[in-house]
Amino acid sequence: MNLFLPSLIYRRASAALLLLAAGSWLVAAEDFCLNCHDHQKQREQFLGSAHAQAGVICRDCHGGDAKAKDETAHLAANFQRPDNKKAIAAMCARCHSDVRRMNPYGLPTDQLDRYKTSKHGEQLFGSNDQKVAICTDCHGVHNIFKVRSPQSPTHPTNIPQTCGRCHSDAKLMAGYKLPSDVVEQYKTSYHAHLLLQKGDLSAPTCVTCHGNHGARPPGVAEVSQVCGKCHVRQAELFGKSPHAEPAAVGLFGGCISCHGNHGIQKASLNLFAEACVKCHAKDAKQLGVRDQIAGLLRQTTTDYESATAKVREATRRGLATDDEQLQLQEAHTHLTQLEALQHTLAIPLLQPVAVRAETAVKETLKGVAWLENVENWKRRALIPIWAFLVVMAGLFAAKRRQIDKREGK
Ligand code: HEC
Ligand code: HEC
Ligand code: HEC
Ligand code: HEC
Ligand code: HEC
Ligand code: HEC
Ligand code: HEC
Ligand code: HEC
Ligand code: HEC
Repeated sequence: MNLFLPSLIYRRASAALLLLAAGSWLVAAEDFCLNCHDHQKQREQFLGSAHAQAGVICRDCHGGDAKAKDETAHLAANFQRPDNKKAIAAMCARCHSDVRRMNPYGLPTDQLDRYKTSKHGEQLFGSNDQKVAICTDCHGVHNIFKVRSPQSPTHPTNIPQTCGRCHSDAKLMAGYKLPSDVVEQYKTSYHAHLLLQKGDLSAPTCVTCHGNHGARPPGVAEVSQVCGKCHVRQAELFGKSPHAEPAAVGLFGGCISCHGNHGIQKASLNLFAEACVKCHAKDAKQLGVRDQIAGLLRQTTTDYESATAKVREATRRGLATDDEQLQLQEAHTHLTQLEALQHTLAIPLLQPVAVRAETAVKETLKGVAWLENVENWKRRALIPIWAFLVVMAGLFAAKRRQIDKREGK
């Protein structure tokens, strides 16, 4: 299997042309392998890679006779063309597990060790399974870029595709009884929306949750840890809920029990209707708690939204709603708090916050009503003024006509 050298063209290359290869004359001059392996694409791919830029040449990976200038180069004892994934791992690790070689670049040297702990690594080294991912499946072969480079298959926005090459392959996944829709599912998620549509690199991609080299699904007990790396507050509050205890002993899956894992949607009140019945369909007590909490949130949200609409309308009419907008912001802060706080499922903790939100909403509405009153009052006060002006204008016109008549015009 080779992605990056689809065809080899055996052409004697002109050394001059190689020397011209942008900024890479040093590599080219030493790398006589390129004399034959000069397929334009191959050369371009390699010479643009992080390896070529660091002065790595063909022989550093493949070995070969440095003195031979022809095909006898391949005959050297150290020549290798890795034909299985363990050999590839060994080839890469020769440098990447060598602290002395990697120190100048500040790169960690634990990739292979960690890889061995992943499901991929366990399969390869445990059962010699050649279908799992090895270094080159995720990084490329000759065109390896810095991992964070936008061109790299390991750049966050490219990761779903990199993993999807195998994890969306229904036939391959069926052999392992694994779902082949994880990437599709992920692409429907709010996280993917943030990452792929908004370019928000703080949203998680496959490797954020699964690890890159130690890729394994988080065990049930660790799942809430994964989410909690980013959603610190929610994790802390979940820890106070009656689900924390069953979660600690593996009887509850943590965040994903309610939110799912790959297809996580933007949270909404619908979740109360969908999630709790998965386990409590017949538990009147738990459903009672659910209805109370959902009711509290729904009421507060509705009131907040209608106050927002009122303020927007008043602002559109030109009223000075600065104070009301501040009040709304306060209500919003309490509402946001409430949305997180419901993770405790503790009604006594929720109630005071809901009251604070409702108070801010009431203050907002009071403010808008006052502004409207003032406006009405002003409008009403204008009526006599207008009437006075009209009468005055009429009188003035009559007087004018009288004067005109008197002067005989
Ligand atoms: C970072 C290490 C590395 C470097 C540097 C490297 N290669 Fe490779 N090369 C590999 C690996 C790994 C494979 C095996 C890929 C596979 O089978 O999936 C390979 C495969 C090949 C193949 C076989 C391709 C095929 O279609 O079967 C050729 C030819 C080759 N390399 C030539 C070169 C030349 C020429 C250079 C210098 C320009 C070079 N390589 C530099 C790692 C490297
Ligand atoms: C005189 C030209 C020439 C030189 C010099 C040369 N190669 Fe090759 N190389 C070839 C040809 C031709 C093939 C294709 C042979 C084949 O397909 O069996 C090849 C095949 C390969 C392969 C794939 C072997 C396989 O089993 O699939 C690798 C890897 C490779 N060369 C690496 C190198 C490296 C590294 C050097 C420098 C040390 C080098 N070559 C120097 C002509 C050359
Ligand atoms: C399942 C995919 C995958 C496999 C297999 C894999 N890597 Fe990575 N690797 C990644 C990702 C993704 C990153 C980038 C992480 C990030 O963005 O910080 C990475 C980062 C790296 C880095 C940059 C330094 C670091 O550790 O973050 C090096 C070097 C590296 N990998 C080498 C290797 C080597 C060598 C192997 C084989 C032993 C390997 N990788 C196997 C996905 C993989
Ligand atoms: C001869 C030593 C050597 C071998 C063999 C080697 N590498 Fe590298 N690798 C390097 C050096 C040196 C760098 C450059 C580091 C830099 O510029 O930051 C590098 C960089 C990388 C990077 C980019 C890391 C970053 O900074 O983002 C990745 C990924 C990588 N190598 C993967 C591989 C893989 C996969 C293999 C096996 C196919 C491999 N390397 C084989 C020496 C080697
Ligand atoms: C070259 C194909 C290939 C690529 C690329 C690949 N994987 Fe895999 N992966 C597999 C195969 C095959 C398995 C099944 C191993 C098993 O379960 O025995 C697997 C298993 C897994 C598992 C364990 C699933 C389980 O419950 O057993 C996780 C997690 C995983 N891969 C994540 C990833 C991530 C994340 C990426 C991308 C960074 C990725 N894989 C890239 C082939 C691949
Ligand atoms: C937000 C975190 C998160 C992201 C992002 C994520 N996963 Fe997962 N994934 C999980 C969790 C948690 C599980 C374990 C589910 C369980 O135990 O029920 C899992 C399970 C898996 C499994 C095993 C499925 C099974 O049914 O056994 C595979 C394979 C997998 N993920 C691959 C991927 C790939 C590929 C991507 C990127 C498209 C990805 N994951 C993105 C959290 C995540
Ligand atoms: C790498 C960080 C990261 C990880 C890990 C992560 N998320 Fe997120 N998540 C985000 C970001 C960033 C947002 C968007 C900002 C926000 O709304 O908090 C988000 C949004 C969400 C939302 C929608 C929030 C809303 O406003 O409606 C939910 C629900 C969610 N994540 C659940 C989870 C769950 C469950 C997990 C674990 C399986 C998880 N996340 C793992 C970063 C992460
Ligand atoms: C994945 C299954 C699952 C889901 C989904 C789930 N629960 Fe639970 N819940 C449990 C388990 C297990 C317990 C602990 C054992 C018990 O008391 O039934 C529990 C306990 C509770 C308790 C404490 C009961 C007591 O007697 O102290 C409340 C309240 C509760 N859940 C409410 C909810 C609400 C509300 C939802 C939806 C937002 C929900 N649960 C979703 C499994 C679940
Ligand atoms: C028992 C079910 C349940 C569990 C377990 C759960 N959530 Fe939620 N989560 C919900 C519901 C329901 C909402 C929607 C609340 C709303 O409409 O405002 C929500 C909302 C959210 C939000 C968006 C609102 C906010 O607080 O910003 C995030 C983010 C979130 N959850 C993350 C998590 C994380 C992380 C975990 C695990 C630590 C987790 N959830 C565990 C039911 C759950």
